[in-house]
Amino acid sequence: MRKIYVFDTTLRDGEQSPGVSLTTEEKVEIALQLERLGIDRIEAGFAATSPGEIESIRAVANRVKNATLLSLARCHTKDIDAVVQALKDAADPCLHLVLATSPIHREHKLRMDKAKVLETAEAAIRYGRKFFDKVEFSAEDASRTEIDFLCEVTAMAIRAGASVVNLPDTVGFATPDEFGRMFKTIKETVPGIEKIQLSTHCHDDLGMATANTLAAIANGVDQFEGTINGIGERAGNTCIEEVALALETRSDFYGAKTTVNLSELYRTSRMVSKLTGMNVPGNKAIVGANAFAHESGIHQDGMLKHRGTYEIIAPETIGASSSKLVLGKHSGRHAFKEKLVDLGYTLDEEQLNIAFAKFKNLADRKKNVLSEDIRALMEENIAEVPK
Ligand code: KIV
Ligand code: ZN
Repeated sequence: MRKIYVFDTTLRDGEQSPGVSLTTEEKVEIALQLERLGIDRIEAGFAATSPGEIESIRAVANRVKNATLLSLARCHTKDIDAVVQALKDAADPCLHLVLATSPIHREHKLRMDKAKVLETAEAAIRYGRKFFDKVEFSAEDASRTEIDFLCEVTAMAIRAGASVVNLPDTVGFATPDEFGRMFKTIKETVPGIEKIQLSTHCHDDLGMATANTLAAIANGVDQFEGTINGIGERAGNTCIEEVALALETRSDFYGAKTTVNLSELYRTSRMVSKLTGMNVPGNKAIVGANAFAHESGIHQDGMLKHRGTYEIIAPETIGASSSKLVLGKHSGRHAFKEKLVDLGYTLDEEQLNIAFAKFKNLADRKKNVLSEDIRALMEENIAEVPK
């Protein structure tokens, strides 16, 4: 089984979510939990942002000992020097350099032609290698870059001494098929590609970050980048928990897995949500409150007969407590009867029929019928439905 390295950028791209700002203590708390989760590479911040950011990254570097630690830098010596300061105590430091390569970024943002982009990136990688054994180079907006130029950029980064080349879908524009093809071409045509690791980094503007990441993995990337709960710029980044579980559940198809401790995922998701103030929607895949909740009668009946009928992942796998059968207007007799047994009521068939009819009446008026409601219903109707 091929190992896929996980690069977590919750503390950098994730912190770029509008309205999110983490204190040093909060960054350290999240970083230690990411270490427990078994993340291979943790991006702790963007050192050149401020002196406070350098201090936060240093605090993380002093505590995290079992993961590679990175900080982002633009291709300027000033940014790289800030990373040198921030990562000086890290057990396994790596410089993360970024420069945009697409026509729209070259023309309007950087005002550089192709030759200048190549020259600037190469100089920065060579300068970074004076301080770091490991350098990751990211070609920002790779998915909107001409494929021939992207091959040239990748070849330059390998020659200059990068250990990882990351090709992001910065604005979430790619479709899975074309994104997969981009990596296939890079792998097949760039000389020396076997000397480095290839990485992907996707954003979710069209809701395709997970699909694009999986397409990149199917086409040979060694590493994917993402965040916990998918937080990040605009619509966010690839959700680490989604890709990790997709690879775990469909290893028959991908032949690849991460080595994250899946049972720490739920706890990590709750912690990141609490510390960033970003709520996890109920219907969010893997970690949403409803991810293991079943409401309709048909599904509940199936679940009570065999969990595998409607659950492809056991909640315990991610460290969540258990599946829930939620009582509402779509629920059936089977789940209602189980709930009564749970609450200590034993009814004969006729009593059950009466109680079920009353429950359906209540469920028409109330979205979620709770245990207290069932108890009240049983007590109110005690004469008709004796225990
Ligand atoms: O989205 C992006 O391209 C990035 C790079 C810094 C990797 O965040
Ligand atoms: Zn990004």
